[in-house]
Amino acid sequence: MVNRMWAVCVVVLALNLGCNIGARAAPQVPCYFIFGDSLVDNGNNNQLQSLARADYLPYGIDFGGPTGRFSNGKTTVDVVAELLGFDDYIPPYATARGQDILKGVNFASAAAGIREETGRQLGGRITFSGQVKNYQNVVSQVVNILGDEDQAANYLSKCIYSVGLGSNDYLNNYFMPQFYSTGNQFTPEEYATSLIQDYSQQLRILYNYGARKIVLFGIGQIGCSPNELAQNSPDGASCVDKINSANQIFNSKLKALANEFNTNLSDARVIFVDSYGIFQDVVTSPAQYGKYKG
Ligand SMILES: *[C@@H]1O[C@H](CO)[C@@H](O)[C@H](O)[C@H]1NC(C)=O
Repeated sequence: MVNRMWAVCVVVLALNLGCNIGARAAPQVPCYFIFGDSLVDNGNNNQLQSLARADYLPYGIDFGGPTGRFSNGKTTVDVVAELLGFDDYIPPYATARGQDILKGVNFASAAAGIREETGRQLGGRITFSGQVKNYQNVVSQVVNILGDEDQAANYLSKCIYSVGLGSNDYLNNYFMPQFYSTGNQFTPEEYATSLIQDYSQQLRILYNYGARKIVLFGIGQIGCSPNELAQNSPDGASCVDKINSANQIFNSKLKALANEFNTNLSDARVIFVDSYGIFQDVVTSPAQYGKYKG
């Protein structure tokens, strides 16, 4: 139920209507763990040698200054943390210390993908498997703080796990033939199958290390991203169909994976968030969202 309310809030948020839950009450869940890429990175890349960094202006101009977020202001997970009732944003793994970790940790890293090589041309990044290793390290700290593994497992089973990767496996891998050969090695169908297989193995590790409430974000319309519009759109304005259709294959397999986890792991609850569909009308009629400029 909490999960469902949360999903509704995300949809409402995307529609820019707000979701009015007080920020001062006790949070609805004790902890919130975040895995992902530049859409939700909040400072993990700041100490890396990487072109994928956002710790300088104009990033953060509406946030009080740059933090490493790839945004003028808050990210989706910042707003979700507020909606869940947390007093603070979830700290980045790079700086989270001591008891902080009990509220959750943000492991996201810009340029990261499901595949190890994804984003390599941009420099350092923490791939999904690296983020999962960092999570395992955090779990051993939780065990130390709470006293034993049973207490830790019980505690972690109440946390929300937000996981969103895959965009860079298309943007900064499959559709970047000057740096990567995957585009020649795999059909879009084969590539999505391979990504989902790798993703599934890492997600299984999260489950084995305590995750029970998992939110899987699908990928958005990468064929409509400014980078692709500039480089691969025939007129600079219409979306690149070949990319969007590959993204949809990935999303439908991810949705099926969520269902499979729900069937196989009866004590887990996995939700698929249709990011592609949520933002469809942003792409087709951006004007209703005010400042957006395509
Ligand atoms: C679910 O169980 C089936 C049957 O044992 C197995 O083939 C499949 O790989 C499992 N899926 C996941 C995501 O664990």
